[in-house]
Amino acid sequence: MKILLIGASGTIGSAIEKELAPRHEVVRIGRTGADEHVDISDSDSIRKLFERTGPFDALICAAGNVTFAPLDEMTGDSFALGLRDKLMGQVNLLLIGREFANDGASFTFTTGITSIDPIRTGASASLVNGAIDAFVRAAAIEMPRGMRVNSVSPNVLVEAMDSYAPYFRGFKPVPAADVALAYAKSVEGLQTGQTYRVG
Ligand SMILES: NC(=O)c1ccc[n+]([C@@H]2O[C@H](COP(=O)([O-])OP(=O)(O)OC[C@H]3O[C@@H](n4cnc5c(N)ncnc54)[C@H](OP(=O)(O)O)[C@@H]3O)[C@@H](O)[C@H]2O)c1
Repeated sequence: MKILLIGASGTIGSAIEKELAPRHEVVRIGRTGADEHVDISDSDSIRKLFERTGPFDALICAAGNVTFAPLDEMTGDSFALGLRDKLMGQVNLLLIGREFANDGASFTFTTGITSIDPIRTGASASLVNGAIDAFVRAAAIEMPRGMRVNSVSPNVLVEAMDSYAPYFRGFKPVPAADVALAYAKSVEGLQTGQTYRVG
């Protein structure tokens, strides 16, 4: 399969590449320093990416930014980054990407445990992650040409605990390699409309 991997240089993305590259052609994508560049918060940038990559069999997005801030300091504007980047970035990858996707292609998005198990400063993350998981369930039943869509909702990663530990006390971190298996299940299996919770 030709797999477009957005966020390939990241903690999750690099584990996905390790899992899938031995069996597939993986195109590494990020804002900087990869085979191809995209900013998922910019629809024009997404369209140009697909015009360069051409048809594909699977798209994985392991990227997405939100604002972390205490709720009592948040205003409506504090949600703008998460809505524009992690939420609509991934939605637009499907809306634009479906024009370029081969029959039976899959889309796999990244959410996170905060949708159901919230943390301090995580209101925007919870909102966005829950929205993407809901979008996946809805989009799956209307996907044409046998196309599929799933999300992966990881717990905090072992490899991210250096910086995230103070925000995730009491959470049991999961190794990136275990998270990567959920992406393999989405890409190489047949399920659709699923949210794979890891850890
Ligand atoms: N790490 C965890 O414990 C954890 C747990 C659950 C969920 N998640 C979620 O998983 C996603 C990835 O997390 P991560 O820890 O692997 O992140 P990371 O290590 O910071 O890597 C992020 C990757 O995404 C790319 N990227 C960032 N913003 C982008 C944009 N607007 N357009 C295109 N590419 C972009 C980065 O490329 P550049 O460096 O070139 O910008 C990088 O390759 C995030 O949405 C995060 O919320 C993470």
